[in-house]
Amino acid sequence: MRRKIIAGNWKMNGNRDLVRQVAERAADSDAGAELAICPPFPLLPTAASQLPFGVALGAQDVSEYEAGAYTGEVSAAMLLEAGCRYVIVGHSERRTLYGEDNGRVAGKFVAAKQAGLTPILCVGETLAERDAERTEAVVGEQLDAVCEAAGAQAFRGAVVAYEPVWAIGTGRTATPEQAQEVHAFIRQRVAERDGSEVAEQLPVLYGGSMKPGNAAELLGQPDIDGGLIGGASLDPDSFLSIYKAAAEG
Ligand code: PGA
Repeated sequence: MRRKIIAGNWKMNGNRDLVRQVAERAADSDAGAELAICPPFPLLPTAASQLPFGVALGAQDVSEYEAGAYTGEVSAAMLLEAGCRYVIVGHSERRTLYGEDNGRVAGKFVAAKQAGLTPILCVGETLAERDAERTEAVVGEQLDAVCEAAGAQAFRGAVVAYEPVWAIGTGRTATPEQAQEVHAFIRQRVAERDGSEVAEQLPVLYGGSMKPGNAAELLGQPDIDGGLIGGASLDPDSFLSIYKAAAEG
């Protein structure tokens, strides 16, 4: 049985007050699922000191380099020291707005793993790619790039998030069947490259307009192991209600 993970991706939102609100509400999170938040870098120390034990912390991005003259970058070791367990790599906003290609994303994935962080690798297709029936080709390439860079059993100790680009922040969610189909494909692709044991243990989260009203149905699919929540994670009540759906499901 894979334990479900509900992770909030705050993007460039939030403040110390939101950290405090989530920390208060999360006090009654139980062992049924894992709860995590990924706030912007400056809020990591506040979150690390305020979150109740058992609630995990993650960052939204990481440098592929270890240290040096990379103005504006943050290394994986720094994130670990700041109390992070997770780091999101390859979010579609990083890929499209900041030009991160598969090679760079794979470098970040490797840097995170080497430092002892758990990378949450985001993959997903655009609407044009889905309409052209290229979903599996695109997601397959995104996974393969990481396998090539990270070597054998690349996905051991990692998390994948399937985030169809057309569903992010649009209010348009993939149907549970559409999501399940791609999640099953991801697990199969990882099984081919890393072996079935790694694939069976790999948490594959869904992201893209997940909210209290659709969470239970999505999380009820056999290969959906949690959610990466954007908009709804900024409202503590909505976020915790998605968490409850995961913990009780
Ligand atoms: P959304 O974002 O829940 O607002 O669609 C998800 C994400 O981008 O991780």
